[in-house]
Amino acid sequence: MTTATIVLDPAFRVAPVNRRTFGTFVEHLGRCVYTGIFEPGHPKADDDGFREDVLALVRELGVSTVRYPGGNFVSGYRWEDGVGPLESRPRRLDLAWKSIETNEFGLNEFMRWTRKAGLEPMMALNLGTRGVQEALDLLEYATHPSGTHLSELRREHGEKDPHDIGLWCLGNELDGPWQIGHKTAHEYGRLAAESARAMKMVKPDLELVACGSSSSGMPTFGSWEAEVLEEAFEYVDHISCHAYYQETDGDLGSFLASAVNMDHFIGSVAATADHVAAKRKSDKRIGISFDEWNVWYQSHMHEAGPRDEWEIAPRLIEDEYNAADAVVVGSLLISLLRNTDRVAVACQAQLVNAIAPIRSEPGGAAWRQTIFHPFALTSRMAAGEVLRAEITAPSVQTAKYGEVPAVDAVATYDEASGDVAVFMVNRHTGSDITVELDARAFGSGSVDEAVGIYEADVYSTNTEAEPERVVPKPNTSVRLDGGKLRAVLPKASWTAVKLSAR
Ligand code: AHR
Repeated sequence: MTTATIVLDPAFRVAPVNRRTFGTFVEHLGRCVYTGIFEPGHPKADDDGFREDVLALVRELGVSTVRYPGGNFVSGYRWEDGVGPLESRPRRLDLAWKSIETNEFGLNEFMRWTRKAGLEPMMALNLGTRGVQEALDLLEYATHPSGTHLSELRREHGEKDPHDIGLWCLGNELDGPWQIGHKTAHEYGRLAAESARAMKMVKPDLELVACGSSSSGMPTFGSWEAEVLEEAFEYVDHISCHAYYQETDGDLGSFLASAVNMDHFIGSVAATADHVAAKRKSDKRIGISFDEWNVWYQSHMHEAGPRDEWEIAPRLIEDEYNAADAVVVGSLLISLLRNTDRVAVACQAQLVNAIAPIRSEPGGAAWRQTIFHPFALTSRMAAGEVLRAEITAPSVQTAKYGEVPAVDAVATYDEASGDVAVFMVNRHTGSDITVELDARAFGSGSVDEAVGIYEADVYSTNTEAEPERVVPKPNTSVRLDGGKLRAVLPKASWTAVKLSAR
C-alpha cells in the first residue's frame, strides 16, 4: 500500500460553492421526458402527469438548475408546437434522434415541473433552423408580463404570471456537423451576437451562454471559441463546454483519470476567453457553462447502428452505469468544484433514462443508477467556500494522459457551521492508498460521515431487479486525531468525508 498526503487550509480558498455546479439536463431524447419525468396514467403520476417517484429522486439527487429542451433536439424544435390546447399540438419528426415528437410536454409543462422540483430553468434556443425573431418570440411569450400578443397568448394558455427564466443557451453544439443547422464559427458567432443583442434589448439582465465546442476533441476546438467570442463577446456572459467520457478497450486507468481532460478543457477555454478580453482591453470575465458532462458509452450507440423506425419516446442511450463510472462522476465533480471560480454553470447530462443517474420504467419503478450517489453526496455535503487541496501522491501511468497523480481531491469549508467536506478519488487500479490529511488549521474536530463508492468488482451495476447493488459504503478506516486524518482509499474508489471542526 502506498501513501499520499493532503494539506487543507482556509487560506486555500477558490470561491464560494456555486449551487449551479449541480445542474442537470432534460432533453426531448428517448425516454427522458416521456415515461421519464412525465407519464400521465402512471400509478405515481400527479394531476399534471409528473411522476412523483421520479420527482422524489430528483430532489434527493440535489440538482439545482435544469437545461431544457436540448441538446441536439433543440436545433430543429418549434417551441410553439408545445404550447396551447393539447388537441391542437402537432406531431413532428425529430431529426436529431429519429423520433416522433408528440409535443404533449412543452414549455409550460416544463416550467410547472421545475416549480414542483424546485429547480432553476436554463432554456435553450433553436439557432439551428431558426434565428433572432423566433428567439425574441419565445422570450416574449415566456417572460413578458402581459399586454402583448405573445404574453397574452401565454395567459390564455393558463400561465398568468411570466416565467422566471434568466439563463438562456444560444443554441446547441452548432460546431458539430451532425447538428441540424450546423454553422461555421463566423456564421454562428454573428447569429449568437445578434440574438443576444436583441434579447438584452428586451431584458438587459439575462444571462446568455454562447455555444463553445461540442468536445475538446473537435478539429476546430480553440479557434471556434476564439471566433465566436470575437463576434459575441460584448453580448454574452458564458461560453459552453461539453464533455463525455467512457472506458475504451479495457483501459480503466485512463478512464479513471478523465478529470485531467476536464481540468485542461476548462483551463484552455478560459484562456481563450481571457485572450479575447485582453485584446479588447476589457476586464469582463466570460464564465464557463459546462452544460453537458457525464459518462456516456457513445461507442455502444454507434455499434447499435441506425434505427429503421420513427417511434415515440424510443429506448435510446439508456446506459447502465457501473461502480467505475460512479468513481469517474465523483472525480469530475472534484474538477468542477476546483474550477468554481470559473465554472458558472454545470449540467450533468442527462437526468432520467438517457445517460442518466435516474432510471424509470413505463408503468413501473424508478431507481438510482450508480452515478446518482457521488452526485447526491457532493451536492449535499459541499457548503461554504471551495478549498484547493495541496496533494502529494504517487503517480499512475495512463495511456491517454501520461503520468497523473493517483489521488485527486477538493474540499469545502463552511465557516458558519465549522464543517469541512473532503472529496477524494483514488485513481490507482491496483493499489489502495493511505491518505494522511492535515486539517489542523480547522481545529481538532470529529468525523461526522465517511462514505465512498468502492466495489471488489468495479463493473457492478444497479438494475431494476437489484437497484441497491452499488450504494455508498462507510469507510471504516477513517481516523481523526488532533486535526490529522488518516484514511485508506480503496483502489479505484471515490470517498467523501465530513468533518465537524468544532
Ligand atoms: O446529451 C446527449 C447529446 O449530446 C446532446 O443532445 C448533444 O448536445 C450532445 O452531443
